Amino acid sequence: MLKVLICGNIVWAHKDVETMISPLAEVLNLSSMSRAEFCQDCKPGGKYSEIMGIYRHNSSSSKIGTYDAELVHSLPSGVKWIAHNGSGYDQIDIEACRARGILVSNTPGAVDDGTATTALYLIISALRQFARAEKNLAGGDWKRGLTPAHDPSSRTLGILGFGGIGLRAAELTRGFPMRVVYHSRKRAVNEPEWAEYYADFKEFLEATDILSIHVPLNMETCGLVGEKEIRTLRKGSVIVNTARGKILDEDALIRALADGHLYAAGLDVYPDEPKINPKLLTFPNVTLLPHMGTETEESQHRMEIRALQNLQDYLKGGKGKDIVPELR
Ligand SMILES: *[C@@H]1O[C@H](CO)[C@@H](O)[C@H](O)[C@H]1NC(C)=O
Ligand SMILES: *[C@@H]1O[C@H](CO)[C@@H](O)[C@H](O)[C@H]1NC(C)=O
Ligand SMILES: *[C@@H]1O[C@H](CO)[C@@H](O)[C@H](O)[C@H]1NC(C)=O
Ligand SMILES: *[C@@H]1O[C@H](CO)[C@@H](O)[C@H](O)[C@H]1NC(C)=O
Repeated sequence: MLKVLICGNIVWAHKDVETMISPLAEVLNLSSMSRAEFCQDCKPGGKYSEIMGIYRHNSSSSKIGTYDAELVHSLPSGVKWIAHNGSGYDQIDIEACRARGILVSNTPGAVDDGTATTALYLIISALRQFARAEKNLAGGDWKRGLTPAHDPSSRTLGILGFGGIGLRAAELTRGFPMRVVYHSRKRAVNEPEWAEYYADFKEFLEATDILSIHVPLNMETCGLVGEKEIRTLRKGSVIVNTARGKILDEDALIRALADGHLYAAGLDVYPDEPKINPKLLTFPNVTLLPHMGTETEESQHRMEIRALQNLQDYLKGGKGKDIVPELR
């Protein structure tokens, strides 16, 4: 019988593993307590030596570390599929997988709602200064120090990265509405008539006063929004990041908040989670969340199912649907 490894904890989808995977393959759970033990278990004769596919969640990192080149190269030779539970897959070395002939899938779509509503909340809180107002109230200060803030409808929302999450975030602002511009490598095939595409990054930034970041983290996007880009935004702009902390230069953001170039910011992600730059905590005009993007039961269950679906399709027909763009 085929064997697969569940590398991470199944939380919501126990029944789904039984109905979707168990009829097709023997399911092994990760029991290695360290990377060294895991690599040993992958060698011929080891308990994982015969696995064909892997379901992965980043929670396995606490025991065996991320799927860097070293770990990918020690996987058993039969492994041809890694079904990652998550939309961001920067914890997997995709080039090492390519070299080994392993395909990797993620869970696009599953987290669109959860992440887009987080972005919407941060946009509203940044513009209306609600996080600050809440702290005021809790501190017994009522409206002391608060000044009139801004309506979203007076602003232009710039969506950086127009995949599923970016599109959903833009859709959610249609109720105000805001003018919506976007920048991505290619013009979106499903572009709504109310969204304007800017092929040129600089022109896009010049047109934007609420920048919401929705690109994946990779070599090209690391530090994509830096000092120069932040200063290209109009004075009084707002930056919201629900993608990955390393896409935004946090020190440049802090400087631009301190000297008043930026009006406010809303962050759900940070370069070195769960560490937070203490300077950020000193700004009353910044709304900070502890990476809440996918913290909904619905998103998490959808992610598990979507990842399991890819593993099931691979076991049945040799291929799942959600192969990451780099390997397509
Ligand atoms: C899938 O990912 C979500 C979000 O990180 C997590 O809550 C859930 O526990 C994960 N499921 C598994 C099986 O790892
Ligand atoms: C794997 O873990 C799940 C619960 O997390 C359990 O139901 C199942 O029996 C375990 N399988 C094996 C082979 O230990
Ligand atoms: C994945 O896990 C590693 C190690 O535990 C951690 O450093 C990293 O921040 C995690 N990445 C995500 C996106 O959760
Ligand atoms: C945001 O907070 C910083 C730090 O207190 C302050 O210097 C800046 O003037 C504030 N910006 C606005 C627009 O209130």
